[in-house]
Amino acid sequence: MTEVGTDIRRAAELLRRGELVAIPTETVYGLAANALSSEAVLKVYAAKGRPAFNPLIVHVASVAEFARYAEDIPDIVFALAAKFCPGPLTFILKKKTNIPDETTGGGNSVALRVPSHPLALELLQQLDFPLAAPSANPSGFISPVTAAHVTEQLGGKIAYVLDGGACRVGLESTVIAFENGKIVVLRAGGVTVEALREFGPVEVRMHAATGAGSPGLLKSHYAPKTRLIVGNLKLLLDEHAAKRVAVLSLWELVRGENIVAWEVLSPSSDLTEAARNLFAAMRRLDALGADLIVAERMPDHGFGLAINDRLERASYDA
Ligand code: TXA
Ligand code: MG
Repeated sequence: MTEVGTDIRRAAELLRRGELVAIPTETVYGLAANALSSEAVLKVYAAKGRPAFNPLIVHVASVAEFARYAEDIPDIVFALAAKFCPGPLTFILKKKTNIPDETTGGGNSVALRVPSHPLALELLQQLDFPLAAPSANPSGFISPVTAAHVTEQLGGKIAYVLDGGACRVGLESTVIAFENGKIVVLRAGGVTVEALREFGPVEVRMHAATGAGSPGLLKSHYAPKTRLIVGNLKLLLDEHAAKRVAVLSLWELVRGENIVAWEVLSPSSDLTEAARNLFAAMRRLDALGADLIVAERMPDHGFGLAINDRLERASYDA
């Protein structure tokens, strides 16, 4: 049985016992375990069906804790952290040996993040260990942005879901590494590339065909059960006029005889709002049993970059 509630003390108690607890963050819900315990962390991989080589993000209560788990931290990390932490930015740093290999997929770097959800922060403050937490979905599927999404997919496999309401950002954190004075974006997310550019040169490297660099960035991910295609709405709708189609658009309301449903991500075409609505809208459309989900490609700036990345990977036919 999976309990759902808002009892932080209960969540902390279960985590101390090495159990799994789903936690709210401002981005998506995470499936948390004691990051310093190999045994607890292995339960995360098992519950998600996650490949063992795909490292987990380690969540801490404040930037002051980075030096406990990472070394050789470049100065730019503290400049970025002053602006974005707590918040949707994850730093790939050289790991210290107190982080078990299971947490980092065997690699010698560790991903650190300070989430900004008040319940997550309060929970981290009550614990004397950090929390390893990937998104709380079975590996390869759409990330959860409500407690109900978590129980739909992982109910029965985890002890407790700490319910913090709907996630404010709606997309995962931006994952960055550092190389020769450059910020390297491995996953677009809740902090835009434009915002990072104010701190120095940025290289975006998220489409490595193999997912090399960030082992979790597999091409096929965030996938609904219904086939999804992404591109120009009008062209795709013309091409698939004979199919029963569900439509995901930025602001346009598309009608047509073959269209069984549509979801508008932001009536005012605000990409921040669109990001917040994306995963819930994908889940609703996926539940309809349509032949096809047709998704509109977003403009490639701001949150559009991260949304397009999720749509492309949702559309990838493995
Ligand atoms: O917003 C988020 O980041 C959410 C919430 C729960 O914090 N977490 C999340 O975790 O999205 P996950 O495991 O679904 O995605 C983490 C990504 C993966 O693509 C993983 O490969 C990458 O970060 N990653 C983790 N550790 C890494 C490392 N040491 N080096 C390179 N990439 C790493
Ligand atoms: Mg994930």
